[in-house]
Amino acid sequence: MEEEIKKIKEKAIEEISQISDLLSLENLKRKYLGRKGLLREILQKITQLPEKERPKIGKLINQIKTDLEKIIEEKKTSIYSLESKVEKIFDFTLPPQKIFFGHLHPITQVKNEVTEIFQSMGFEVLEGPEVETDWYNFEALNMPIEHPARDVWDTFYINQKSKIKNSKLLLRTHTSNMQVRVMEKRKPPLRICVIGKCFRHEATDQTHEHTLYQIEGFAVDEKISLANLIYTIKNFLNALYKKEIKIRIRPGYFPFVEPGIEIDMRCENCQGRGCSVCKNSGWIEILGAGMIHPKVFESAGYPKGKYTGFAFGVGLDRLVMMLYKIDDIRWLHSGDLRFIHQF
Ligand code: DAH
Repeated sequence: MEEEIKKIKEKAIEEISQISDLLSLENLKRKYLGRKGLLREILQKITQLPEKERPKIGKLINQIKTDLEKIIEEKKTSIYSLESKVEKIFDFTLPPQKIFFGHLHPITQVKNEVTEIFQSMGFEVLEGPEVETDWYNFEALNMPIEHPARDVWDTFYINQKSKIKNSKLLLRTHTSNMQVRVMEKRKPPLRICVIGKCFRHEATDQTHEHTLYQIEGFAVDEKISLANLIYTIKNFLNALYKKEIKIRIRPGYFPFVEPGIEIDMRCENCQGRGCSVCKNSGWIEILGAGMIHPKVFESAGYPKGKYTGFAFGVGLDRLVMMLYKIDDIRWLHSGDLRFIHQF
């Protein structure tokens, strides 16, 4: 009987090796292991054996049953993977799978372009920390605690202090935070451009977001003038929009510059005719700028009166809006694929 059982096993293994589809495998399983299968049949014959031999043969049958189950399972997996491979390669009748290629977010695309433009003008492009100290974000920029101008840049505070001057931590409101950080480490001449994320605690609307990207540029040397600033901005805008961009310069107040100016560009959304983006004025305010305030040089530890410099801050999101005629800034961080796929 022992011989008979072993032969059944060998035969089963041989048959399994020739099978290449799941249906035949299922039939084979039934033939050997099913309720009326060959192993069952043999098991029933066990009563004909002398009592002494029964446990040994019973054990053998069980062993073979588990062995065969294992081999069948392995075969099943290999048929599965073979079938899926074959399907992938050869089934031309299936409709093709749609392939979605990802791409860079419009903000990143413009950020890369801006980086190249400033680099071509000799600026070094940096990033800087988004979690910042009150010192670099405000105090070092001539905005001591309780300075009323801080209201414009209300932000999110972190319940922890920094080792730097025991200063409060906050989410930076502008990339101007890098001015003193760079100046205290390096001596002029400096031509720096900082591009990065900033945060504001404010109600959002068509042109305001709590999270925004800013480009801060500054140059420091012994004879930097406002003319250098205006030239740099004009060159930058013309290079970005690939045409002559009309700008308008107005006086503006920022505690870290003196004199301070604001620059508007003609609204690209309506070509200056007036629309909801420019609030019917035909102009969009894009940046604040000016000549770096002596107090900022003092925070950086520069000798009094030795250097002059210009600084400007541009909202990258606004530039993207103008570039692609986007009418609501909130689209940019919405994560809405219907919007993103257009770029
Ligand atoms: N940091 C300012 C803001 O977030 C923008 C700005 C204004 C930057 C004037 C400057 C500047 O460097 O000189 O609104």
